[in-house]
Amino acid sequence: MDSVQQLIADWDGEFVVTSFDADTGSWIFIAIHDTTLGPALGGLRMNTYPTEADGLRDAMRLAEGMTHKWAALGLPRGGGKSVVAAPRKLTGDTRCKLLHRYGRTVASLRGTYACGPDLGSTPDDMRTINDETEHAHGWDHRRNQPLDPGPYTALGVFVGMRASLRQVFGGDDFGGRTVLIQGVGDVGIPLARQLSTAGATLALTDIDEARATQLATELGASVVPPEAAYAHPCDIYAPCAVGATLNATTIPQLTCRIVAGSANNQLAEVADGTRLHGRGILYAPDYVINAGGAAALPALSAGSDEATVTERVRGIEHTLDEIFAEAREHDEAPATTARRRVERILAEGRAGRR
Ligand code: PHE
Repeated sequence: MDSVQQLIADWDGEFVVTSFDADTGSWIFIAIHDTTLGPALGGLRMNTYPTEADGLRDAMRLAEGMTHKWAALGLPRGGGKSVVAAPRKLTGDTRCKLLHRYGRTVASLRGTYACGPDLGSTPDDMRTINDETEHAHGWDHRRNQPLDPGPYTALGVFVGMRASLRQVFGGDDFGGRTVLIQGVGDVGIPLARQLSTAGATLALTDIDEARATQLATELGASVVPPEAAYAHPCDIYAPCAVGATLNATTIPQLTCRIVAGSANNQLAEVADGTRLHGRGILYAPDYVINAGGAAALPALSAGSDEATVTERVRGIEHTLDEIFAEAREHDEAPATTARRRVERILAEGRAGRR
C-alpha cells in the first residue's frame, strides 16, 4: 500500500498542501494538479477513508479530473480538489472549527486555489469557510442564499443523456427508456425528477436504501438493492455517487447501452473506457457530462443571470455530440476522444504561456 510520501513522489500534479487537525484527528489535503489554464478551482470532499493515504489519493485523482473538466469546458481554470479525511462524520461546533481551519489553509494559497461544494460538503459549509477566505464558492452573500451546483450538474447530465440516446438509438425520446440512477443525493435527486418529467422509467439505488425508497415513492420508480445495480436491466446506467464504479468486475455485468452519470472518476482505470467500448456500451466521459456544476458555479458567484448560466450548462449537449461523432469516425472509445481534446487544449495553454 502506498504511503502519503510515495503518492506525492509518484504524482504528476503540481503540489499538495497538507495539514492535520489534532482536535478532530482529520487530515486536510489540497491537491493542485495543473494551473496551466488558470488558478485552480474544485470542490471540497469531506469523507471518512480507511487511511489518510486513501484520502490523499482521492484528492489527487479528483484534482486531475478537474483539470480535464475545465479544459473540456474551455474555461480559464486549473484543476484542484480538497479532501478533508475525518475519522467520523462531524457536525455542529466541531465541524465548524475544522472548516475554519480548512478555510485558513485555503486563504494561505491567496487565490491559487478556490473551493466549492462536493460530496460531503454543502453550500452552508462554504458560507462558514467564507469567514476565513473569499476563495470558497457556494453561498450568495448578497441574497443570503445557497448557490448549489447540484441541480446544474443534473441538467448537464440530462442534456448529455439526450446526446447519448441520439447516438445509440437515433432519437432522444426518454419514453420507454429505463434509467438506473446510482446515488440519489444532491445531483441524483434533481436528475431523477427531470427524467421522470421527461417520461423515463426510473430505477433507483443508494447505499442508504431509505433515501432511494422515499424518492422512488414520490416518482413511482423502483428501488434496486446496491449489490444488484450493475446487472439490473436498463438502457442508461447513471453513476451519481462515488467514483471507480466502472471496472473489470462491474463492466461485464452491465446490461445497459449507455453509461451517463454525474460521478467524478467513474472509470477505475483508463483501460475501462476501452472495455466499455468493446462491449458496445457508449460512455459519456464523466468530466464532460458532469461539468454543469463547474460551468455554473463561478458564473453564479459572479452574479450572472440564471438564463446565461443555464445556457452555458446546456452547451454540454453539443460538446458531447461532437465527441461522440469524432469517436465514431475514429472507431474509438469516447473517453479516448475526450482525452485527446483535453490534451490539445492544455498543450495550447502551455504554448501560450511560453
Ligand atoms: N464538486 C462539483 C464538481 O466536481 C461542483 C464543483 C465544481 C464545485 C467546481 C467546485 C468547483 O464538478
